[in-house]
Amino acid sequence: MKRIFITGGAGFIGSAFVRLVLDEHADVEIVDYDALTYAGNMANLAGVDAERHRFVKGDICDREAVMNALPEGTDAIFNFAAESHVDRSINSADEFLRTNIIGTQVLLDAAREKGVRRFVQISTDEVMGSLPDDSDEYFTESSPLQPNSPYAASKAAAEFVVRAARETHGVDTVVTRCGNNYGPRQFPEKLIPLMIANAMNDEPLPVYGDGRNVRDWIYVDDHCRAIWLAYEKGRSGEAYNIGARNEQENINVVKAILDAVGKPHELIKLVTDRKGHDRRYAIDPAKAETELGWKPQVTWEEGLAATIDWYRANQDWVNHIRNGEYRNYYDAMYGARLEKAV
Ligand code: NAD
Ligand code: TYD
Repeated sequence: MKRIFITGGAGFIGSAFVRLVLDEHADVEIVDYDALTYAGNMANLAGVDAERHRFVKGDICDREAVMNALPEGTDAIFNFAAESHVDRSINSADEFLRTNIIGTQVLLDAAREKGVRRFVQISTDEVMGSLPDDSDEYFTESSPLQPNSPYAASKAAAEFVVRAARETHGVDTVVTRCGNNYGPRQFPEKLIPLMIANAMNDEPLPVYGDGRNVRDWIYVDDHCRAIWLAYEKGRSGEAYNIGARNEQENINVVKAILDAVGKPHELIKLVTDRKGHDRRYAIDPAKAETELGWKPQVTWEEGLAATIDWYRANQDWVNHIRNGEYRNYYDAMYGARLEKAV
């Protein structure tokens, strides 16, 4: 049995990765370490094989707890744990710097002390900043790191501590930088699940600015397959950009959701823009395709339909979140914006 240690495995992408690995790799057992912040949810792990998956509740910044949870003989750490929402980072950056930077350093130290063979850092395209509209520029692995939000800055800093651990201490590291993920179990603060949930409840759909910002969307399982390949085949010290060549303007994403849910476009409200709102993300995934032999398997149309079906079929999961602390977050983030909306 191969042993791997996943952080953030009760979140959106981490839990999809846990499922994928357990389904596709019978010789792997997982320790899943997660602090269960507002974004972590044990319901995301319902039904996973308990024989090969052990959950440990803990904070990646807690050195002693990480050392206690990390088994001897672990082959790899996959660091998904993070504060992940740009809007929250604009309101308060502290937790982003703590978890995303300090937490990554603690995990790198633990990897070194316990002799873990490889460290996989789950990063984001947002570390590379923003591209101009209507250009043929793309993010490549040699694009400069020029983050614009506190979230992106904390993820870029995390990449630097990963690099330093390799250069200074010889830790074997690989970094993946993916675009915007979508799929089942994404916390409904993010664009696609927020719009699906609001549409299903006949509530207004708050689109920032002119709605023409572009994101490069990828189905979560395609991202997870790329992470696995980066672990197996990635060259030490390298970063791999992961994207499905699927640029979409926000307004078109929101209209597609309304059409699929059968609700009128009149629910769309253009609201005050996000501060420092990155205009366009677009990834050139050629390196991952050629070096890792990776290709996305799920088209945008299939993935969006599957995602909407999942939220329709799992309204208890959504309502449990929407009826809790999320309501306060939503009112603070959108209340005044929607009052002024056009
Ligand atoms: P998420 O917010 O859904 O989940 C984050 C998970 O990390 C939660 O389960 C949470 O409880 C856990 N966590 C947070 N702080 C922790 C701490 N201090 N100690 C232990 N666990 C902690 O995030 P996600 O969308 O699943 O993103 C996962 C990773 O992928 C992040 O590192 C993110 O930066 C990266 N990423 C996300 C996207 C995207 O589109 N969502 C794209 C590219 C990269
Ligand atoms: P988001 O899902 O927060 O991801 P990121 O900021 O990491 O790309 O947002 C995706 C895009 O959707 C981004 O351009 C901001 C926009 N957006 C809205 O227009 N309205 C919303 O309510 C949210 C959450 C996002």
